[in-house]
Amino acid sequence: MYFKMDQKFKDYFKTNLRQIFFYIIDDCNLRCEQCLYKTEIAFQIEKKEVDFDDAIKLLSDFREMGAVKLTLMGGEPTLYGIKQQNRPLLELIKKAKELGYEYVRIDTNGQFNSSLLEQPEFKMLDEITFSIDGPNKEINDPIRGYGSFDKCVKNIKRAKELGYNIDITACISKFLIERDEDGNLYLDRMIKFAEDLGIERINFHNLFKTGVPRDCFSGNLDISIKDWFRVWNEIEDKVDNKEYKIPVRIPQSFTTKEKFDENPAYYGYCSCKTGSRILIHPNGMLRVCSLMIGTPYAIARYYDGKIVWDDSPTNELRAHKMDENTPCTNQSKNNKYGEFVPVCVSFKPKQQEMIWKELNWENKRIEDKIRVIVADDNEETRNQVTGILDKINGVDVVATADTPEDTYNKIIKYVPEMVFTKFNFENDNMNGLDIIKKSKETLNENVPAFNFIAKEIPKEDFLEARRMIGDKMNTIIREQTQVRYDGIINDYKDYKKMNV
Ligand SMILES: C[S@@+](CC[C@H](N)C(=O)[O-])C[C@H]1O[C@@H](n2cnc3c(N)ncnc32)[C@H](O)[C@@H]1O
Ligand code: SF4
Ligand code: SF4
Repeated sequence: MYFKMDQKFKDYFKTNLRQIFFYIIDDCNLRCEQCLYKTEIAFQIEKKEVDFDDAIKLLSDFREMGAVKLTLMGGEPTLYGIKQQNRPLLELIKKAKELGYEYVRIDTNGQFNSSLLEQPEFKMLDEITFSIDGPNKEINDPIRGYGSFDKCVKNIKRAKELGYNIDITACISKFLIERDEDGNLYLDRMIKFAEDLGIERINFHNLFKTGVPRDCFSGNLDISIKDWFRVWNEIEDKVDNKEYKIPVRIPQSFTTKEKFDENPAYYGYCSCKTGSRILIHPNGMLRVCSLMIGTPYAIARYYDGKIVWDDSPTNELRAHKMDENTPCTNQSKNNKYGEFVPVCVSFKPKQQEMIWKELNWENKRIEDKIRVIVADDNEETRNQVTGILDKINGVDVVATADTPEDTYNKIIKYVPEMVFTKFNFENDNMNGLDIIKKSKETLNENVPAFNFIAKEIPKEDFLEARRMIGDKMNTIIREQTQVRYDGIINDYKDYKKMNV
Protein backbone atom coordinates (compact mmCIF):
# COMPACT_ATOMS: atom_id res chain seq x y z
CA MET A 1 0.00 0.00 0.00
CA TYR A 2 1.27 3.50 -0.84
CA PHE A 3 -1.12 5.44 1.40
CA LYS A 4 -1.07 5.09 5.16
CA MET A 5 -4.73 4.41 5.81
CA ASP A 6 -6.74 4.85 8.98
CA GLN A 7 -8.05 1.51 10.20
CA LYS A 8 -11.61 2.92 10.22
CA PHE A 9 -11.32 3.49 6.48
CA LYS A 10 -10.25 -0.12 5.91
CA ASP A 11 -12.93 -1.40 8.26
CA TYR A 12 -15.64 0.48 6.43
CA PHE A 13 -14.92 -1.22 3.11
CA LYS A 14 -13.99 -4.61 4.54
CA THR A 15 -13.62 -6.65 1.35
CA ASN A 16 -16.55 -5.04 -0.44
CA LEU A 17 -14.86 -2.31 -2.48
CA ARG A 18 -15.54 -2.97 -6.17
CA GLN A 19 -15.67 0.31 -8.03
CA ILE A 20 -14.10 3.73 -8.22
CA PHE A 21 -15.54 6.93 -9.61
CA PHE A 22 -12.43 8.98 -10.20
CA TYR A 23 -13.19 12.68 -10.63
CA ILE A 24 -9.75 13.41 -12.02
CA ILE A 25 -10.35 17.06 -12.89
CA ASP A 26 -12.43 19.92 -11.50
CA ASP A 27 -12.67 21.76 -14.78
CA CYS A 28 -14.86 21.59 -17.84
CA ASN A 29 -15.28 23.08 -21.29
CA LEU A 30 -19.08 23.11 -20.95
CA ARG A 31 -21.45 24.56 -18.35
CA CYS A 32 -24.46 22.29 -18.54
CA GLU A 33 -27.55 23.76 -16.96
CA GLN A 34 -28.11 20.85 -14.56
CA CYS A 35 -24.49 19.99 -13.77
CA LEU A 36 -24.11 18.59 -10.26
CA TYR A 37 -20.40 19.33 -10.46
CA LYS A 38 -20.73 23.09 -10.98
CA THR A 39 -19.42 24.16 -7.56
CA GLU A 40 -16.34 21.97 -7.91
CA ILE A 41 -15.67 23.38 -11.38
CA ALA A 42 -16.25 26.95 -10.24
CA PHE A 43 -13.90 27.17 -7.31
CA GLN A 44 -11.05 25.26 -5.73
CA ILE A 45 -8.53 27.03 -3.53
CA GLU A 46 -5.66 24.90 -4.77
CA LYS A 47 -5.92 21.85 -7.00
CA LYS A 48 -8.07 21.48 -10.07
CA GLU A 49 -6.53 18.19 -11.21
CA VAL A 50 -5.57 15.16 -9.20
CA ASP A 51 -1.76 14.75 -9.01
CA PHE A 52 -0.71 12.09 -11.45
CA ASP A 53 1.43 10.29 -8.84
CA ASP A 54 -1.38 10.34 -6.29
CA ALA A 55 -3.76 9.01 -8.94
CA ILE A 56 -1.55 6.00 -9.66
CA LYS A 57 -1.02 5.29 -5.97
CA LEU A 58 -4.74 5.51 -5.19
CA LEU A 59 -5.55 3.24 -8.11
CA SER A 60 -2.99 0.75 -6.90
CA ASP A 61 -4.16 0.82 -3.27
CA PHE A 62 -7.85 0.56 -4.12
CA ARG A 63 -7.14 -2.24 -6.58
CA GLU A 64 -5.43 -4.06 -3.71
CA MET A 65 -8.58 -3.52 -1.65
CA GLY A 66 -10.70 -5.19 -4.32
CA ALA A 67 -11.78 -2.51 -6.83
CA VAL A 68 -12.17 -3.86 -10.37
CA LYS A 69 -14.26 -1.23 -12.14
CA LEU A 70 -12.97 2.28 -12.75
CA THR A 71 -14.83 5.29 -14.16
CA LEU A 72 -12.77 8.31 -15.15
CA MET A 73 -14.81 11.48 -14.95
CA GLY A 74 -14.91 14.99 -13.53
CA GLY A 75 -15.51 17.78 -14.66
CA GLU A 76 -14.44 16.78 -18.10
CA PRO A 77 -11.83 13.99 -17.94
CA THR A 78 -10.57 14.53 -21.50
CA LEU A 79 -9.16 17.86 -20.27
CA TYR A 80 -6.86 16.01 -17.84
CA GLY A 81 -3.29 16.83 -18.88
CA ILE A 82 -4.55 18.60 -22.00
CA LYS A 83 -1.44 20.80 -22.10
CA GLN A 84 0.68 17.65 -22.39
CA GLN A 85 -1.51 16.29 -25.23
CA ASN A 86 -3.44 14.23 -22.67
CA ARG A 87 -0.38 12.07 -21.87
CA PRO A 88 -1.33 11.89 -18.15
CA LEU A 89 -4.86 10.71 -19.03
CA LEU A 90 -3.55 8.11 -21.46
CA GLU A 91 -0.96 6.87 -18.95
CA LEU A 92 -3.66 6.60 -16.30
CA ILE A 93 -5.78 4.37 -18.52
CA LYS A 94 -2.78 2.20 -19.37
CA LYS A 95 -1.70 1.93 -15.76
CA ALA A 96 -5.22 1.01 -14.60
CA LYS A 97 -5.31 -1.87 -17.05
CA GLU A 98 -1.82 -2.97 -15.97
CA LEU A 99 -2.94 -2.90 -12.34
CA GLY A 100 -5.68 -5.36 -13.23
CA TYR A 101 -8.80 -3.20 -13.42
CA GLU A 102 -11.22 -5.37 -15.36
CA TYR A 103 -13.44 -2.59 -16.63
CA VAL A 104 -12.12 0.92 -17.28
CA ARG A 105 -14.53 3.47 -18.67
CA ILE A 106 -14.59 7.19 -19.27
CA ASP A 107 -17.56 9.48 -18.88
CA THR A 108 -17.22 12.39 -21.32
CA ASN A 109 -19.16 15.25 -22.83
CA GLY A 110 -17.69 14.26 -26.21
CA GLN A 111 -16.29 17.71 -27.08
CA PHE A 112 -12.69 16.46 -27.40
CA ASN A 113 -10.52 16.46 -30.50
CA SER A 114 -11.30 13.25 -32.40
CA SER A 115 -7.59 12.39 -32.62
CA LEU A 116 -7.80 11.27 -28.97
CA LEU A 117 -9.79 8.26 -30.15
CA GLU A 118 -6.82 7.14 -32.25
CA GLN A 119 -4.44 6.90 -29.27
CA PRO A 120 -3.47 3.29 -28.44
CA GLU A 121 -3.92 3.84 -24.69
CA PHE A 122 -7.39 5.34 -25.24
CA LYS A 123 -8.26 2.22 -27.20
CA MET A 124 -7.58 0.21 -24.04
CA LEU A 125 -10.80 1.63 -22.55
CA ASP A 126 -13.52 -0.95 -22.03
CA GLU A 127 -16.22 1.66 -22.58
CA ILE A 128 -16.71 5.28 -23.53
CA THR A 129 -19.87 6.88 -22.19
CA PHE A 130 -20.97 9.99 -24.05
CA SER A 131 -23.30 12.38 -22.25
CA ILE A 132 -25.99 13.87 -24.41
CA ASP A 133 -29.30 15.17 -23.11
CA GLY A 134 -31.68 14.91 -26.05
CA PRO A 135 -32.24 13.12 -29.34
CA ASN A 136 -31.67 16.36 -31.25
CA LYS A 137 -29.80 19.61 -30.88
CA GLU A 138 -33.03 21.53 -30.20
CA ILE A 139 -33.36 19.70 -26.87
CA ASN A 140 -29.70 19.04 -26.08
CA ASP A 141 -28.02 22.32 -26.89
CA PRO A 142 -29.97 24.70 -24.64
CA ILE A 143 -29.04 22.35 -21.76
CA ARG A 144 -25.47 21.36 -22.61
CA GLY A 145 -24.35 24.29 -24.76
CA TYR A 146 -24.77 25.39 -28.36
CA GLY A 147 -22.89 23.24 -30.84
CA SER A 148 -22.31 20.50 -28.26
CA PHE A 149 -24.75 18.04 -29.87
CA ASP A 150 -23.06 18.01 -33.28
CA LYS A 151 -19.58 17.72 -31.78
CA CYS A 152 -20.59 14.86 -29.51
CA VAL A 153 -22.43 12.93 -32.25
CA LYS A 154 -19.42 13.33 -34.55
CA ASN A 155 -17.18 11.73 -31.93
CA ILE A 156 -19.70 8.98 -31.21
CA LYS A 157 -19.76 8.09 -34.92
CA ARG A 158 -15.96 8.12 -35.14
CA ALA A 159 -15.67 6.00 -31.98
CA LYS A 160 -18.16 3.59 -33.48
CA GLU A 161 -16.08 3.32 -36.67
CA LEU A 162 -13.04 2.57 -34.55
CA GLY A 163 -14.84 -0.26 -32.76
CA TYR A 164 -15.21 1.27 -29.28
CA ASN A 165 -17.79 -0.10 -26.85
CA ILE A 166 -20.09 2.91 -26.48
CA ASP A 167 -22.72 3.93 -24.01
CA ILE A 168 -24.85 7.08 -23.94
CA THR A 169 -25.94 8.75 -20.71
CA ALA A 170 -28.80 11.22 -20.73
CA CYS A 171 -30.35 13.30 -17.98
CA ILE A 172 -34.13 13.05 -17.92
CA SER A 173 -35.21 16.66 -17.97
CA LYS A 174 -38.81 17.82 -18.34
CA PHE A 175 -38.23 17.93 -22.11
CA LEU A 176 -37.69 14.17 -22.31
CA ILE A 177 -40.98 13.35 -20.65
CA GLU A 178 -42.92 15.43 -23.17
CA ARG A 179 -44.35 14.00 -26.39
CA ASP A 180 -43.76 14.96 -30.00
CA GLU A 181 -46.55 15.75 -32.49
CA ASP A 182 -47.00 11.99 -33.16
CA GLY A 183 -47.46 11.21 -29.48
CA ASN A 184 -43.99 9.66 -29.04
CA LEU A 185 -42.25 10.31 -25.75
CA TYR A 186 -38.96 12.11 -26.29
CA LEU A 187 -37.52 9.60 -23.83
CA ASP A 188 -38.48 6.87 -26.28
CA ARG A 189 -36.99 8.87 -29.11
CA MET A 190 -33.78 9.21 -27.07
CA ILE A 191 -33.56 5.42 -26.85
CA LYS A 192 -34.28 5.05 -30.58
CA PHE A 193 -31.65 7.70 -31.29
CA ALA A 194 -29.09 5.61 -29.40
CA GLU A 195 -30.21 2.46 -31.22
CA ASP A 196 -29.87 4.17 -34.60
CA LEU A 197 -26.34 5.29 -33.73
CA GLY A 198 -25.56 1.61 -33.16
CA ILE A 199 -24.31 2.08 -29.62
CA GLU A 200 -24.31 -0.71 -27.04
CA ARG A 201 -26.66 0.59 -24.32
CA ILE A 202 -28.23 3.71 -22.84
CA ASN A 203 -28.23 4.96 -19.28
CA PHE A 204 -30.37 7.67 -17.68
CA HIS A 205 -30.13 10.00 -14.69
CA ASN A 206 -33.17 11.76 -13.28
CA LEU A 207 -33.51 15.43 -12.49
CA PHE A 208 -35.73 15.78 -9.44
CA LYS A 209 -35.82 18.53 -6.84
CA THR A 210 -35.35 16.52 -3.66
CA GLY A 211 -33.76 19.17 -1.48
CA VAL A 212 -30.16 17.93 -1.83
CA PRO A 213 -27.43 20.48 -2.56
CA ARG A 214 -27.07 19.52 -6.20
CA ASP A 215 -30.67 20.51 -6.94
CA CYS A 216 -29.63 24.15 -6.88
CA PHE A 217 -28.28 23.47 -10.33
CA SER A 218 -31.26 21.83 -11.89
CA GLY A 219 -32.55 25.14 -13.27
CA ASN A 220 -36.00 24.78 -14.74
CA LEU A 221 -35.43 21.28 -16.02
CA ASP A 222 -36.72 19.19 -13.16
CA ILE A 223 -39.60 16.71 -13.34
CA SER A 224 -42.41 15.94 -10.89
CA ILE A 225 -43.00 12.54 -9.26
CA LYS A 226 -46.48 12.18 -10.79
CA ASP A 227 -45.24 12.86 -14.33
CA TRP A 228 -42.36 10.54 -13.73
CA PHE A 229 -44.43 7.47 -12.82
CA ARG A 230 -46.62 7.85 -15.88
CA VAL A 231 -43.49 7.70 -18.00
CA TRP A 232 -41.58 5.18 -15.92
CA ASN A 233 -44.36 2.59 -16.18
CA GLU A 234 -44.55 3.04 -19.94
CA ILE A 235 -40.81 2.61 -20.44
CA GLU A 236 -40.59 -0.28 -17.96
CA ASP A 237 -43.34 -2.14 -19.83
CA LYS A 238 -41.44 -1.68 -23.07
CA VAL A 239 -38.23 -2.89 -21.47
CA ASP A 240 -40.05 -5.94 -20.06
CA ASN A 241 -41.61 -6.67 -23.42
CA LYS A 242 -38.19 -6.39 -25.05
CA GLU A 243 -39.29 -3.61 -27.37
CA TYR A 244 -35.88 -1.96 -27.37
CA LYS A 245 -32.88 -3.31 -29.25
CA ILE A 246 -30.41 -2.20 -26.58
CA PRO A 247 -30.34 -2.48 -22.76
CA VAL A 248 -31.86 0.54 -21.03
CA ARG A 249 -30.68 1.54 -17.54
CA ILE A 250 -33.26 3.82 -16.03
CA PRO A 251 -33.52 4.97 -12.41
CA GLN A 252 -36.75 4.29 -10.58
CA SER A 253 -36.14 7.29 -8.26
CA PHE A 254 -39.22 6.74 -6.06
CA THR A 255 -41.47 3.97 -4.88
CA THR A 256 -44.56 3.96 -2.68
CA LYS A 257 -44.21 3.55 1.10
CA GLU A 258 -46.28 0.39 0.81
CA LYS A 259 -44.00 -1.21 -1.78
CA PHE A 260 -40.93 -0.21 0.18
CA ASP A 261 -42.27 -1.84 3.34
CA GLU A 262 -43.07 -5.05 1.44
CA ASN A 263 -39.52 -5.35 0.16
CA PRO A 264 -37.07 -3.13 2.13
CA ALA A 265 -34.07 -5.35 1.34
CA TYR A 266 -34.52 -4.58 -2.33
CA TYR A 267 -35.62 -0.93 -2.28
CA GLY A 268 -33.18 -0.06 0.50
CA TYR A 269 -30.22 -0.19 -1.89
CA CYS A 270 -27.69 2.42 -0.75
CA SER A 271 -24.05 2.55 -1.82
CA CYS A 272 -23.14 3.97 1.59
CA LYS A 273 -24.37 0.71 3.13
CA THR A 274 -22.97 -1.74 0.59
CA GLY A 275 -19.50 -0.13 0.89
CA SER A 276 -18.81 -1.17 -2.68
CA ARG A 277 -17.74 2.16 -4.19
CA ILE A 278 -15.64 5.23 -3.63
CA LEU A 279 -15.59 8.67 -5.23
CA ILE A 280 -12.17 10.35 -5.44
CA HIS A 281 -11.81 14.11 -5.99
CA PRO A 282 -8.75 16.27 -6.75
CA ASN A 283 -9.18 18.34 -3.56
CA GLY A 284 -8.58 15.27 -1.41
CA MET A 285 -12.19 14.35 -0.68
CA LEU A 286 -13.13 10.67 -0.62
CA ARG A 287 -16.88 10.18 -0.77
CA VAL A 288 -19.51 7.51 -1.34
CA CYS A 289 -22.77 9.24 -2.21
CA SER A 290 -22.74 11.33 -5.38
CA LEU A 291 -25.42 13.58 -3.87
CA MET A 292 -22.72 14.93 -1.54
CA ILE A 293 -20.66 16.39 -4.38
CA GLY A 294 -20.07 20.08 -3.84
CA THR A 295 -20.64 19.82 -0.08
CA PRO A 296 -18.19 19.53 2.85
CA TYR A 297 -19.40 15.95 3.46
CA ALA A 298 -17.17 12.96 2.76
CA ILE A 299 -15.92 9.83 4.53
CA ALA A 300 -12.20 10.62 4.46
CA ARG A 301 -9.50 12.79 2.94
CA TYR A 302 -6.24 11.90 1.24
CA TYR A 303 -3.16 14.13 1.47
CA ASP A 304 0.56 13.85 2.21
CA GLY A 305 0.54 10.07 1.69
CA LYS A 306 -2.25 9.48 4.23
CA ILE A 307 -5.91 8.58 4.08
CA VAL A 308 -7.55 10.14 7.10
CA TRP A 309 -11.00 9.03 8.23
CA ASP A 310 -13.38 11.93 8.90
CA ASP A 311 -14.33 11.68 12.56
CA SER A 312 -16.00 15.07 12.55
CA PRO A 313 -19.66 16.03 11.90
CA THR A 314 -18.81 16.24 8.19
CA ASN A 315 -18.54 12.46 7.86
CA GLU A 316 -21.32 11.72 5.38
CA LEU A 317 -22.10 8.35 6.96
CA ARG A 318 -23.30 10.03 10.16
CA ALA A 319 -26.63 10.68 8.47
CA HIS A 320 -27.25 6.99 7.84
CA LYS A 321 -28.76 4.16 9.83
CA MET A 322 -26.08 1.82 8.61
CA ASP A 323 -27.73 -1.41 9.76
CA GLU A 324 -31.23 -0.67 8.52
CA ASN A 325 -32.89 -0.73 5.12
CA THR A 326 -34.32 2.75 4.68
CA PRO A 327 -35.42 4.97 1.80
CA CYS A 328 -32.60 7.18 0.46
CA THR A 329 -31.31 9.01 3.53
CA ASN A 330 -29.99 12.10 1.80
CA GLN A 331 -33.09 12.70 -0.29
CA SER A 332 -35.29 12.18 2.77
CA LYS A 333 -33.59 14.91 4.81
CA ASN A 334 -35.52 17.95 3.65
CA ASN A 335 -38.50 16.80 1.68
CA LYS A 336 -41.60 14.72 2.27
CA TYR A 337 -43.19 13.12 -0.74
CA GLY A 338 -46.64 12.03 0.45
CA GLU A 339 -47.24 8.38 -0.38
CA PHE A 340 -43.83 8.10 -2.07
CA VAL A 341 -40.33 7.55 -0.72
CA PRO A 342 -37.07 8.25 -2.59
CA VAL A 343 -34.75 5.40 -3.54
CA CYS A 344 -31.06 5.52 -4.44
CA VAL A 345 -30.14 7.46 -7.58
CA SER A 346 -28.23 4.35 -8.66
CA PHE A 347 -31.27 2.10 -8.14
CA LYS A 348 -31.98 1.02 -11.72
CA PRO A 349 -34.07 -2.16 -11.63
CA LYS A 350 -33.03 -5.05 -13.85
CA GLN A 351 -29.92 -3.23 -15.05
CA GLN A 352 -27.13 -5.27 -16.54
CA GLU A 353 -24.48 -3.19 -14.77
CA MET A 354 -21.43 -5.15 -13.58
CA ILE A 355 -21.56 -4.35 -9.84
CA TRP A 356 -25.36 -4.54 -9.61
CA LYS A 357 -25.10 -8.01 -11.09
CA GLU A 358 -22.22 -9.00 -8.80
CA LEU A 359 -24.26 -7.90 -5.78
CA ASN A 360 -27.09 -10.01 -7.21
CA TRP A 361 -29.44 -7.21 -6.21
CA GLU A 362 -32.31 -8.28 -8.49
CA ASN A 363 -32.50 -11.47 -6.47
CA LYS A 364 -33.83 -9.43 -3.54
CA ARG A 365 -36.91 -8.35 -5.50
CA ILE A 366 -40.01 -10.14 -4.29
CA GLU A 367 -43.17 -8.21 -4.94
CA ASP A 368 -43.03 -7.69 -8.66
CA LYS A 369 -45.97 -8.88 -10.67
CA ILE A 370 -45.61 -12.47 -11.73
CA ARG A 371 -45.74 -12.43 -15.52
CA VAL A 372 -47.57 -15.44 -16.91
CA ILE A 373 -48.67 -16.96 -20.21
CA VAL A 374 -51.86 -19.00 -20.62
CA ALA A 375 -51.94 -21.58 -23.43
CA ASP A 376 -54.80 -23.82 -24.49
CA ASP A 377 -56.37 -24.62 -27.86
CA ASN A 378 -59.80 -24.51 -26.24
CA GLU A 379 -60.83 -20.87 -26.26
CA GLU A 380 -63.26 -21.33 -23.40
CA THR A 381 -60.61 -22.85 -21.09
CA ARG A 382 -58.14 -20.17 -22.12
CA ASN A 383 -60.56 -17.41 -21.22
CA GLN A 384 -61.58 -19.14 -18.00
CA VAL A 385 -57.96 -19.50 -16.80
CA THR A 386 -57.10 -15.96 -17.87
CA GLY A 387 -60.15 -14.66 -15.98
CA ILE A 388 -59.12 -16.55 -12.82
CA LEU A 389 -55.53 -15.29 -13.00
CA ASP A 390 -56.63 -11.71 -13.68
CA LYS A 391 -58.38 -11.71 -10.30
CA ILE A 392 -55.18 -12.59 -8.40
CA ASN A 393 -53.14 -9.69 -7.01
CA GLY A 394 -49.62 -9.49 -8.34
CA VAL A 395 -50.24 -11.55 -11.49
CA ASP A 396 -50.01 -10.19 -15.00
CA VAL A 397 -51.17 -12.34 -17.95
CA VAL A 398 -48.77 -11.02 -20.59
CA ALA A 399 -49.91 -13.28 -23.44
CA THR A 400 -52.12 -16.19 -24.42
CA ALA A 401 -51.41 -18.89 -27.00
CA ASP A 402 -53.43 -21.58 -28.78
CA THR A 403 -50.82 -23.98 -30.20
CA PRO A 404 -47.61 -25.46 -28.75
CA GLU A 405 -45.52 -23.58 -31.35
CA ASP A 406 -47.31 -20.33 -30.48
CA THR A 407 -46.71 -21.05 -26.78
CA TYR A 408 -42.99 -21.56 -27.34
CA ASN A 409 -42.72 -18.38 -29.45
CA LYS A 410 -44.50 -16.29 -26.79
CA ILE A 411 -42.29 -17.77 -24.05
CA ILE A 412 -39.22 -16.64 -25.97
CA LYS A 413 -40.70 -13.24 -26.69
CA TYR A 414 -42.04 -12.42 -23.22
CA VAL A 415 -39.78 -14.53 -20.98
CA PRO A 416 -42.57 -15.00 -18.39
CA GLU A 417 -42.04 -16.41 -14.91
CA MET A 418 -44.85 -18.94 -15.20
CA VAL A 419 -46.74 -20.77 -17.90
CA PHE A 420 -50.16 -22.38 -17.57
CA THR A 421 -50.50 -24.65 -20.55
CA LYS A 422 -52.47 -27.61 -21.82
CA PHE A 423 -50.28 -30.73 -22.02
CA ASN A 424 -51.78 -32.48 -25.06
CA PHE A 425 -53.05 -30.10 -27.71
CA GLU A 426 -55.58 -31.44 -30.27
CA ASN A 427 -54.12 -32.28 -33.68
CA ASP A 428 -50.56 -31.43 -32.71
CA ASN A 429 -47.58 -33.72 -32.26
CA MET A 430 -45.76 -31.28 -30.01
CA ASN A 431 -46.83 -31.62 -26.38
CA GLY A 432 -46.04 -29.88 -23.08
CA LEU A 433 -42.78 -31.74 -22.66
CA ASP A 434 -41.61 -30.55 -26.08
CA ILE A 435 -42.46 -26.94 -25.14
CA ILE A 436 -40.33 -27.29 -21.99
CA LYS A 437 -37.46 -28.84 -23.92
CA LYS A 438 -37.36 -26.14 -26.60
CA SER A 439 -37.79 -23.32 -24.06
CA LYS A 440 -35.02 -24.69 -21.85
CA GLU A 441 -32.67 -24.97 -24.83
CA THR A 442 -33.20 -21.29 -25.64
CA LEU A 443 -33.63 -19.71 -22.21
CA ASN A 444 -31.52 -21.90 -19.91
CA GLU A 445 -32.05 -20.79 -16.31
CA ASN A 446 -34.62 -18.18 -17.44
CA VAL A 447 -36.99 -20.96 -18.44
CA PRO A 448 -40.40 -20.31 -16.79
CA ALA A 449 -42.14 -22.51 -14.22
CA PHE A 450 -44.66 -24.83 -15.92
CA ASN A 451 -48.15 -25.76 -14.77
CA PHE A 452 -50.04 -28.23 -16.93
CA ILE A 453 -53.76 -27.97 -17.48
CA ALA A 454 -54.58 -31.68 -17.74
CA LYS A 455 -56.40 -34.51 -15.96
CA GLU A 456 -53.23 -36.60 -16.04
CA ILE A 457 -49.88 -36.64 -17.76
CA PRO A 458 -47.70 -39.75 -18.25
CA LYS A 459 -45.51 -40.31 -15.19
CA GLU A 460 -42.38 -40.67 -17.32
CA ASP A 461 -43.11 -37.29 -18.98
CA PHE A 462 -43.49 -35.67 -15.57
CA LEU A 463 -40.18 -37.16 -14.40
CA GLU A 464 -38.45 -36.13 -17.63
CA ALA A 465 -39.76 -32.56 -17.19
CA ARG A 466 -38.43 -32.57 -13.59
CA ARG A 467 -35.07 -33.80 -14.87
CA MET A 468 -34.90 -30.96 -17.40
CA ILE A 469 -36.10 -28.00 -15.33
CA GLY A 470 -36.20 -29.24 -11.72
CA ASP A 471 -38.67 -27.42 -9.43
CA LYS A 472 -39.85 -25.34 -12.36
CA MET A 473 -41.94 -28.36 -13.38
CA ASN A 474 -44.46 -27.09 -10.90
CA THR A 475 -47.79 -28.88 -10.96
CA ILE A 476 -50.74 -30.43 -12.83
CA ILE A 477 -54.04 -28.54 -12.61
CA ARG A 478 -57.05 -30.81 -12.89
CA GLU A 479 -59.73 -28.29 -11.89
CA GLN A 480 -59.81 -24.74 -13.12
CA THR A 481 -61.00 -23.04 -9.93
CA GLN A 482 -60.05 -19.76 -8.26
CA VAL A 483 -59.01 -21.58 -5.06
CA ARG A 484 -56.64 -23.88 -6.93
CA TYR A 485 -54.97 -21.02 -8.82
CA ASP A 486 -54.77 -18.81 -5.71
CA GLY A 487 -52.95 -21.68 -4.00
CA ILE A 488 -50.45 -22.09 -6.82
CA ILE A 489 -49.64 -18.38 -6.93
CA ASN A 490 -49.35 -18.07 -3.12
CA ASP A 491 -47.03 -21.08 -2.96
CA TYR A 492 -44.94 -19.58 -5.74
CA LYS A 493 -44.69 -16.21 -3.92
CA ASP A 494 -43.54 -18.04 -0.76
CA TYR A 495 -41.00 -19.99 -2.78
CA LYS A 496 -39.62 -16.73 -4.21
CA LYS A 497 -39.38 -15.14 -0.76
CA MET A 498 -37.44 -18.12 0.55
CA ASN A 499 -35.06 -17.94 -2.36
CA VAL A 500 -34.17 -14.25 -1.98
C1 LIG B 1 -20.82 15.38 -13.95
S1 LIG B 1 -20.63 14.62 -15.51
C2 LIG B 1 -18.88 14.39 -15.64
C3 LIG B 1 -18.41 13.75 -16.92
C4 LIG B 1 -18.57 14.55 -18.19
N1 LIG B 1 -18.25 15.91 -18.07
C5 LIG B 1 -19.94 14.36 -18.76
O1 LIG B 1 -20.70 15.32 -18.86
O2 LIG B 1 -20.23 13.21 -19.10
C6 LIG B 1 -21.19 12.96 -15.26
C7 LIG B 1 -22.63 12.71 -15.62
O3 LIG B 1 -23.47 13.35 -14.68
C8 LIG B 1 -24.58 13.87 -15.36
N2 LIG B 1 -25.18 14.93 -14.56
C9 LIG B 1 -24.88 16.22 -14.54
N3 LIG B 1 -25.65 16.89 -13.68
C10 LIG B 1 -26.49 16.01 -13.13
C11 LIG B 1 -27.54 16.09 -12.16
N4 LIG B 1 -27.87 17.24 -11.59
N5 LIG B 1 -28.17 14.95 -11.84
C12 LIG B 1 -27.85 13.78 -12.40
N6 LIG B 1 -26.86 13.64 -13.31
C13 LIG B 1 -26.19 14.74 -13.68
C14 LIG B 1 -23.99 14.34 -16.65
O4 LIG B 1 -24.96 14.59 -17.64
C15 LIG B 1 -23.05 13.23 -16.99
O5 LIG B 1 -23.73 12.21 -17.69
S1 SF4 C 1 -19.93 18.41 -19.43
FE1 SF4 C 1 -20.16 17.17 -17.59
S2 SF4 C 1 -18.92 18.20 -16.03
FE2 SF4 C 1 -19.12 19.60 -17.75
S3 SF4 C 1 -20.77 20.93 -17.17
FE3 SF4 C 1 -21.64 19.27 -18.39
S4 SF4 C 1 -22.24 17.66 -16.94
FE4 SF4 C 1 -20.91 19.11 -15.89
S1 SF4 D 1 -28.35 8.44 -3.22
FE1 SF4 D 1 -29.31 7.92 -1.28
S2 SF4 D 1 -29.42 5.72 -1.27
FE2 SF4 D 1 -27.93 6.29 -2.87
S3 SF4 D 1 -25.92 6.29 -1.86
FE3 SF4 D 1 -26.77 8.34 -1.65
S4 SF4 D 1 -27.83 8.34 0.33
FE4 SF4 D 1 -27.52 6.21 -0.27
